[in-house]
Amino acid sequence: MILELDDVHVTLGGSHILQGVSFSVAPIGVTALLGRNGVGKTTTVKAILGLVRRTGRIDFGGDPVHRLRTHEIVRRGIGYAPEDRCVFAKLTVTENLALAERRGSAHAYDLVYELFPELKARSAQAVGTLSGGQQQMVAIARTLLNDNRLIVVDEPTKGLAPKVVTEVAEVLERAAERVPMLLVEQNLALVRRLAGDGVVLAAGQVVHRGPVRELLADAALTRELLGVGQARGESVTPPTRPAPSGGSIHPLAIVKDRQPPDEVSPPESTRSDAP
Ligand SMILES: Nc1ncnc2c1ncn2[C@@H]1O[C@H](COP(=O)(O)OP(=O)(O)OP(=O)(O)O)[C@@H](O)[C@H]1O
Ligand SMILES: [Mg+2]
Repeated sequence: MILELDDVHVTLGGSHILQGVSFSVAPIGVTALLGRNGVGKTTTVKAILGLVRRTGRIDFGGDPVHRLRTHEIVRRGIGYAPEDRCVFAKLTVTENLALAERRGSAHAYDLVYELFPELKARSAQAVGTLSGGQQQMVAIARTLLNDNRLIVVDEPTKGLAPKVVTEVAEVLERAAERVPMLLVEQNLALVRRLAGDGVVLAAGQVVHRGPVRELLADAALTRELLGVGQARGESVTPPTRPAPSGGSIHPLAIVKDRQPPDEVSPPESTRSDAP
């Protein structure tokens, strides 16, 4: 296991947010961190990165890191694409990447520009003028620039149009071939496509661990844990693409952007903040 959390607790603003979170991340492929809004996914990620005070044990690559500070943890080889992307809007693509260069690491510009030809073409453009999807690409590219042993990506497709979700999914898939990934994601089609194992949080605790295919194949469990169902009209589609009348879009349609709606619509997204 590349990353192991054991009984991690976080208290924020007097609230006990993480209440003994324990799970591990496989050294290969994508592990999905799932759960409804507000259950503590981002807080878990921040606890790993040392961005919030936490108790409990966190091992990375077999070594304890829970007493280290963020820059020390990052230097050990964790790349982080945060939920709000945290790109420098006024700086160019090249400048954003240059700022992400870590000393003592090789810098894989060739890989980054191969995976993101769009960013190469826009290398002199201010990141604040890029589309949301392109900005997300910059955030992901930064994690791939350095010699990381794990990348942590928090909701990379949030707020993106279906076509852009497809592009981000492809990039994540290629990235995950190179480096293991902990992925927070509410688009279950994307989770199904990318992730091997899944960890589900509810109210600051792990309530399920196991292969995501098994979880997503169990409609009742998916509904119970992730709050989405198979009933017509219950599914949530991205705001830019309304569901065809009387039905919902097949989850893989969101990723591939070309699949016709299925008769029986499997669970689609846990996002509860979409219209
Ligand atoms: N600084 C803070 N002070 C107090 N409460 C906080 C703070 N940060 C987060 N919380 C609370 O902690 C809980 C977990 O938040 P977190 O951002 O980890 O959820 P999440 O699972 O990532 O949600 P989402 O899917 O909406 O991104 C929420 O109830 C949130 O309001
Ligand atoms: Mg979050």
